[in-house]
Amino acid sequence: MAELGMGDSSRTSRAGAGWDCEPGDFKSLLPHGHTPLSWVRPALLFRARNDWLARSLGDPTNSERRRWVAGQLARHADPDFMIRDFADRPNTSFLVLADTGEGDASQYCLVPGLLQKAQDTAFMFINGDVVYPSGDAVDYADRFYRAYKDYPGPIFAVPGNHDWYDGLNGFMSHFCDARVRENPRRAENTGALWQRAVRRLVWRNPSTTSERKIEDMQAIRGRPEQRALQPGPYLAIDTGPLLLVAIDTGVLGDIDRDQGEWLRRLSGTVSKPKILLTAKPFYVEGARHPGMIEDGKETVDDIVRAPENGYIAAIGGDIHHYERYPVSLEDGRVIQYIVNGGGGAGMQGTHKIPRIDLPGVKEADFRCYPLRGDSLSRVSEMYERRLGWLFGKLAIPLDQAAALMAEYLDVPPVRPLGADVVVTPEARRAFKKVIPSRRRLPGPVREYLTQFLDWNDPPMFKSFLRIDASTEEIHIRCFAATGCRKHEQNPPVEDAVKASRSSDGNWRWS
Ligand SMILES: [Fe+2]
Repeated sequence: MAELGMGDSSRTSRAGAGWDCEPGDFKSLLPHGHTPLSWVRPALLFRARNDWLARSLGDPTNSERRRWVAGQLARHADPDFMIRDFADRPNTSFLVLADTGEGDASQYCLVPGLLQKAQDTAFMFINGDVVYPSGDAVDYADRFYRAYKDYPGPIFAVPGNHDWYDGLNGFMSHFCDARVRENPRRAENTGALWQRAVRRLVWRNPSTTSERKIEDMQAIRGRPEQRALQPGPYLAIDTGPLLLVAIDTGVLGDIDRDQGEWLRRLSGTVSKPKILLTAKPFYVEGARHPGMIEDGKETVDDIVRAPENGYIAAIGGDIHHYERYPVSLEDGRVIQYIVNGGGGAGMQGTHKIPRIDLPGVKEADFRCYPLRGDSLSRVSEMYERRLGWLFGKLAIPLDQAAALMAEYLDVPPVRPLGADVVVTPEARRAFKKVIPSRRRLPGPVREYLTQFLDWNDPPMFKSFLRIDASTEEIHIRCFAATGCRKHEQNPPVEDAVKASRSSDGNWRWS
């Protein structure tokens, strides 16, 4: 397998990050008559209301998922929910991206680079938020099929919280060929009586569409080699040298007890090295969220960490940028915990990520894209554009933003700064306004704010992963999509790690 070197990127130069470049052709790919997804319209926020309702009135996702899974098993889905089409390959390559489905420039700016790096890949995988804002079956045409119509292989996925706001109807219709439920029953067996009653009144039920319309959309990616049919909302893919285990974390990030049993069984019986794919990451923005299982016996991350299960990495989306935490465990193994949510939705800033100081992983080992300074400068510029009339000067020039982040986190700047950079009092005042509390807002509110600040010109700061695996080596590379012409043809490598099988059979990262 070829060495995966890192050339010019945001870590080495301003041009590598995509500042001041000639824009590429991605806007010409946008569907005809397209209008950008605007979360500024309250109706879209209302379509995502099941997030708040699940938090405050009880979450019916587990029982909903059980119904879907029972339906799949009745239709003779493999009880292991395993795709074995690639199992005989000695080597494999595939793409992984998440939080894709906005259907606007944020999503389509990834397409040229993605296709460049698609050569020899067996498939593509989307780990969550396939279609915004609420996963509706009718929204798949522009936000899924047209975006990836030229990707030559099959695409598999697990749903994210947004895909669940449709009761998973759109996802199951398109990925699992499940019968479209014209008149779905509400799942009401969660919560107290009053909670069920209120939920019955305000819960968003799946929108309906016809089988014919779904077939028309599927025909956009209708070549035989593009067709994909997956067994259920959670699944495993035997890629040959590597087993991918992909879980469905629903609205709030937990998994049901049946899925937990499936995960334990598969993790303990298949002896290949494994990567977990999930919509909700376990490490994100400087905090650990190990993922609960309904039966309460252990967390999902407990299963990932158990040495006998052979996991080498866990990749989750949900937050719209790239982060990597190489976590050292007490037994000497290292598991890569990656956030790969920069696959299409409006960027969420990395400048809010605190200095990393967690058991097993410190700031020096942590990676993110975009760099915090780039993120701060870009977001502050957008704040000024949208809210400058209210808050005054907010934009922080690029070098000053990098210097401020280095000072704030007490770390050297990743990209060398010019010797003459002086942080002005004006920039310091803007910094205090732009970097407020790190309290996590509910998902839809965060995404509402993100979309309010969204932009459609370089640097876009999007990213996707390409994974290449043999029985001896596994490479994970993060490629950037900046929206620049030169990067459409040659996407920068923002991060790369390699695992090698050592003589004792364990995998070592470098
Ligand atoms: Fe998302």
